[in-house]
Amino acid sequence: MSVLSRLLHRDVPARGLEILPMRRRDFTAIQVIEHQVYPQPWSINVFLNEIELAKQGQRYYTVGYRGGELMGYAGMMLVLEEAHITNIATDPKRRRSGIARHLLADLVWEARGKGCTGLTLEVRISNVAAQGLYHLFGFEPAGVRPRYYENSEDAIVMWCHNIDSPEYAARLRLLCPDVAEIRGES
Ligand SMILES: CC(C)(COP(=O)(O)OP(=O)(O)OC[C@H]1O[C@@H](n2cnc3c(N)ncnc32)[C@H](O)[C@@H]1OP(=O)(O)O)[C@@H](O)C(=O)NCCC(=O)NCCS
Repeated sequence: MSVLSRLLHRDVPARGLEILPMRRRDFTAIQVIEHQVYPQPWSINVFLNEIELAKQGQRYYTVGYRGGELMGYAGMMLVLEEAHITNIATDPKRRRSGIARHLLADLVWEARGKGCTGLTLEVRISNVAAQGLYHLFGFEPAGVRPRYYENSEDAIVMWCHNIDSPEYAARLRLLCPDVAEIRGES
């Protein structure tokens, strides 16, 4: 096993996370998390609009359930060969148990399946947790948008290229073997 494999292949206690398309019935639980984790939470209308666009194939939004409880959610915008991660959040009580890793792995497999070659996103310069997650998936900083958040905090623009390559698929399998298995990619 290579050094990279050893780093990526860890036991992930979120095994058993059920990843489902986001539905209106999830909004109450999502709003509880959204209001805890973001200074400017998305409203129900924003989520509603996003899942409508998902029906047209322009977005992809999911929720992660375990034991009947919503643990987290994630989504992205799909534009030609690029996917833009728009939101990913885990219930603060469930942090650091692999929820976001599973949700993000699922998004990336979906993006690959839709023919995307690259992924991008913006992240607060202070958001060490999210940057750690994105780094794990191979995102690299590509620029800064000054005062992007609340006209005060800078955003780091991150990119992850060549997600369509066999090498990247191998990385995804190591990062989250059970998501690869569920998607028939193991
Ligand atoms: C960022 C966030 C989604 C991570 O969710 P999570 O379910 O706790 O993440 P995971 O347990 O799947 O962690 C996966 C990896 O991300 C990295 N990571 C997660 N939290 C981290 C932290 N606090 N510090 C450093 N790295 C971290 C680690 O590499 C971790 O792997 P490891 O636990 O094996 O070391 C979560 O902190 C969150 O909801 N934050 C608020 C919302 C937000 O900021 N979203 C991103 C917007 S850009």
